[in-house]
Amino acid sequence: KHGIFTYDPGFLSTASCNSNITFIDGDEGLLYYRGYPIEQLAQHCDFMEVSYLLIHGNLPTLEEKATFTNTITHHTMLHDQLTNIFRGFRRDAHPMAVMVGVIGSMSAFYHDAMDIKDAKNREMSIYRLIAKVPTVAAWSFKYNEGQPFTYPQNRFNYAENFLHMMFSTPCEEYVPNPVIAKALDRILILHADHEQNASTSTVRLAGSSGANPFACIAAGVASLWGPAHGGANEAVLKMLEEIGDASNIDKFIKRAKDKSDTFRLMGFGHRVYKNIDPRATMMRQTCYEVLEELGLGDDPLFKVAMELERIALEDEYFISKRLYPNVDFYSGIVLRAIGIPTNMFTAIFALARTVGWTAQWNEMISDPEAKIGRPRQLYTGAVRRDIVPIEKR
Ligand code: SDX
Repeated sequence: KHGIFTYDPGFLSTASCNSNITFIDGDEGLLYYRGYPIEQLAQHCDFMEVSYLLIHGNLPTLEEKATFTNTITHHTMLHDQLTNIFRGFRRDAHPMAVMVGVIGSMSAFYHDAMDIKDAKNREMSIYRLIAKVPTVAAWSFKYNEGQPFTYPQNRFNYAENFLHMMFSTPCEEYVPNPVIAKALDRILILHADHEQNASTSTVRLAGSSGANPFACIAAGVASLWGPAHGGANEAVLKMLEEIGDASNIDKFIKRAKDKSDTFRLMGFGHRVYKNIDPRATMMRQTCYEVLEELGLGDDPLFKVAMELERIALEDEYFISKRLYPNVDFYSGIVLRAIGIPTNMFTAIFALARTVGWTAQWNEMISDPEAKIGRPRQLYTGAVRRDIVPIEKR
């Protein structure tokens, strides 16, 4: 119940839990956050409204949105001593490695977060995480670049503030481009939650032991980093760059079908969607809009991506395996178009998913019947045997 994995031997490979937050129908290609279709949320709301919805269960009124946004805005700064944590990393550390470390270390800075049975404390921890993770992500990039940390500015909205922290320097302030800020805001909405995916299940399992929220979200970041999960958008770009030209696509399609080859077509397939990922449809539309508005329609990588999509969607193997482009196939192209460096793609996914992770963590912890998660196994090892002295082995 609520995040505790019930184990039914009839479904040996499945663990499940109850939740009121996100609904997915993989066959129909449906995704609802608290009952609202993702298409409507992406078209008519912004990330702050969707964050409020996921955390509190309903879309906010104007006043509720203003209060929520103001609270988030006024918690975007990090404790000054946290800057020392960044400096413990090598300059070439992947931003996701830095995020795992810094977010986990926040457990040592907010002791009221330890009393997770107090609903107000839980809410404060959730707001701190939603507010501070963009700063941690942007500063992870700044540290990589050898540039000074850029402090958040309260006059910016959520997406603008992140872009400002990423690209402003003491010498020149980044002026957010509304097209780019809007595209980023939509990317955050599309990535905010997705039912019991690997990283969310990691957060729930860690949280079910009573661990503090910062440690649980750090665990979620670590799980998301994998190329089969949140690392896929970065892997898509690397794949497209490796393909380089449409004439090479057939070679990669052949590799993806070859069982002896571990290569998989990055950005295709999904554990749940056996139809088009509704987020991919929205992301594809955003891709066209952004490239058009930024005059990047002739981007060679985008052309390779569109040709790869066309070929894969017509290919018998992919059709038979019900492998469609997923959200990561297009998000990497959009992020690259709006100037985000490839090594920050998954960090942005983590930034968005922090809302879903904290909502799901809170749902589980606030359930009085919640117990520690304890998935079972099907033992396939050696049968009972007695030890033989080493001299006789
Ligand atoms: C995310 O769970 C979530 O909700 C995740 C996520 C979220 O929002 O949290 O949606 C985000 O992780 C999206 C997925 C991003 N990952 C990628 O794009 C990486 C490439 N895709 C794959 O690694 C793969 O598709 C998975 C991991 C996503 C799913 O793998 P499965 O569970 O093996 O998929 P499947 O069972 O439907 O595969 C069916 C068959 C298998 O072959 P057979 O065992 O039947 O012979 O298709 C093959 C797979 O080997 N296959 C692929 C493939 N994906 C699956 N073959 C080539 N290329 C691929 N991309």
